[in-house]
Amino acid sequence: MRFLTGLQPSGKLHIGNYFGAIEPAVRLQEQGEGFYFIANYHAMTTMESAQALLENTRGLAVDFLACGLDPQKSVFFAQSAVPEVNELAWILSTVCPMGLLERCHSYKEKMARGIAASHALFAYPALMAADILLYNADAVPVGKDQKQHLEVTRDLAGKINDLFGDDIFKLPEPIISEVTAVVPGLDGQKMSKSYGNTLPIFGEEKPIRKLINKKIITDATPLEAPKPTEGSILLQLYKLFATPEQYQEMIDAHHRGGVGYGQFKKDLFEAYWEYFRAPRERREWLLANPGYVDETLNNGAARAREEAATTLTRVRKAVGLGWL
Ligand code: ADP
Ligand code: TRP
Repeated sequence: MRFLTGLQPSGKLHIGNYFGAIEPAVRLQEQGEGFYFIANYHAMTTMESAQALLENTRGLAVDFLACGLDPQKSVFFAQSAVPEVNELAWILSTVCPMGLLERCHSYKEKMARGIAASHALFAYPALMAADILLYNADAVPVGKDQKQHLEVTRDLAGKINDLFGDDIFKLPEPIISEVTAVVPGLDGQKMSKSYGNTLPIFGEEKPIRKLINKKIITDATPLEAPKPTEGSILLQLYKLFATPEQYQEMIDAHHRGGVGYGQFKKDLFEAYWEYFRAPRERREWLLANPGYVDETLNNGAARAREEAATTLTRVRKAVGLGWL
């Protein structure tokens, strides 16, 4: 079984990215082979400078490794280290109806946010499909917002198979965790860097304490009174980090009353801080050893290129490009 996912290097990772994409990817390493990459071509659709792109790419490599990506078990690389993916994206584009791309939520949402409608932004799902099909992935762990792009991928793979031969592409399955499909942000909307409501995976202790204290919305129930549990953002976030017993204890304390939101927020911070202790320590080590990170990405790229070459030879032949 081969699992594949890509993450865009477009800013600081938050716990929505962690539970939606990183944690499942890391967990799946135990059940098969992982192909995990930094989607830096994709990030170019929204990036303001070359320096920002480069720094974010390096930063994401460190953070992904810190979160438990194991280069002995997974192939880890930068998307741009295998430029062949662009050729496959082109081939897929030739069978990709405009209407399919026009319907994509992610494109519409970015337009609504005022991002200029470049050709790359529009064609983004075709490149994503190429990412997945180039490496013959069986399953793709992603957050719910990427599900539609997986449907596009399956659609394009099916069209190529219909037109040029049944066994060119496997149709990949999305893996969407029901529990963490949508991690709520500090304000209760979906957590997203575009909404400024994120809880980062890595950061300094004090500012994060402050963030949790100031930004999580709670109601005005007095300290002594029982507190509502229904729809509580604080509880939903606590559940991600606490043991089932700790979580139940917090629910009981809500029902009983006598504990204020300040204390609950403190408990949330402690559980969060403990949860990411080991990744934080690994990250310190990785930051001090950039040579290790570069070498890991180079090794991953070499392995990814082998796989890409095999797929492309097959595809070129099938579509009538491969006579030399
Ligand atoms: P953002 O919304 O902050 O821009 P991205 O779109 O870069 O995040 O998402 C990167 C990955 O993280 C995707 O697989 C996405 O589905 C997942 N993800 C992002 N936000 C959440 C969330 N709030 N809950 C679950 N998964 C998420
Ligand atoms: N579009 C994904 C996102 O914004 C990133 C991505 C690019 C990806 N290529 C992929 C995810 C292939 C899964 C598989 O999060």
